[in-house]
Amino acid sequence: MKAVILAGGMGTRLLPLTRLLNKHLLPVGKLPMICYGLHRLQEAGITDILLVTGRQAAGSFTDFLGSGQEFGVSLTYRIQEEAGGIAQALDLAKPFIGDDRKFIVLLGDNLFEEPLKPHIDAFTRQPDGAMVLLKQVPDPHRYGVPVFDYNGKIERIDEKPADPQTDHIVTGIYMFDDTVFTHITEQAPSHRGELEITDVNNAYAAKNKLEYSQIHGWWTDAGTFESLLEAANKLIGTVP
Ligand code: G1P
Repeated sequence: MKAVILAGGMGTRLLPLTRLLNKHLLPVGKLPMICYGLHRLQEAGITDILLVTGRQAAGSFTDFLGSGQEFGVSLTYRIQEEAGGIAQALDLAKPFIGDDRKFIVLLGDNLFEEPLKPHIDAFTRQPDGAMVLLKQVPDPHRYGVPVFDYNGKIERIDEKPADPQTDHIVTGIYMFDDTVFTHITEQAPSHRGELEITDVNNAYAAKNKLEYSQIHGWWTDAGTFESLLEAANKLIGTVP
């Protein structure tokens, strides 16, 4: 299976740090943030990885990561010319995914302790559709929040709802089948002018093809100073 890591965006919540450095290159313990997702993929046996980032940061990524050899992976790079949303960045992966039936996507700021392999195995057993990884958090309104039907299936995801009905949230770890690119094409930009990953997941949910798996270990999206600090303390020394 191939993987895509999305590592673009403005990182506005981490200004002024991100004025100089792309968020995913900020230090987390001993390593730039991007290394942790790479490690989790490599550990799960996924080594063919596309990294999507913005034009300005691309040189720094290639400087640090090169071919990926040092991390036991093989990297391909694509540039997202303008910030147009997570789903727009994901659409750039289409030629890389080629004829593969299934792949995994990580948002590069999602940091976690848990091995991905059991979740990937569960998705491999799923005939088609998509799978999201959920996590219980104290502040669900900051995230995509699933709404479950009476069978416990995800009926839809509400993006950053003011009044979340559950404290389970959708992390930035997604697994898709190859229909994802059709779903992306069918989306219209949201009110903030972006193609939203939540709309893409909701297209799967509408077809009753959105499954989930639960993350039980520590997880954060290192998008704030507090979570960045927490991640550094948690992850220092975890990657060889
Ligand atoms: C994005 C997704 C959101 C998800 C989050 C996880 O939000 O839109 O559904 O819960 O990633 O990190 P963003 O971080 O872009 O606000």
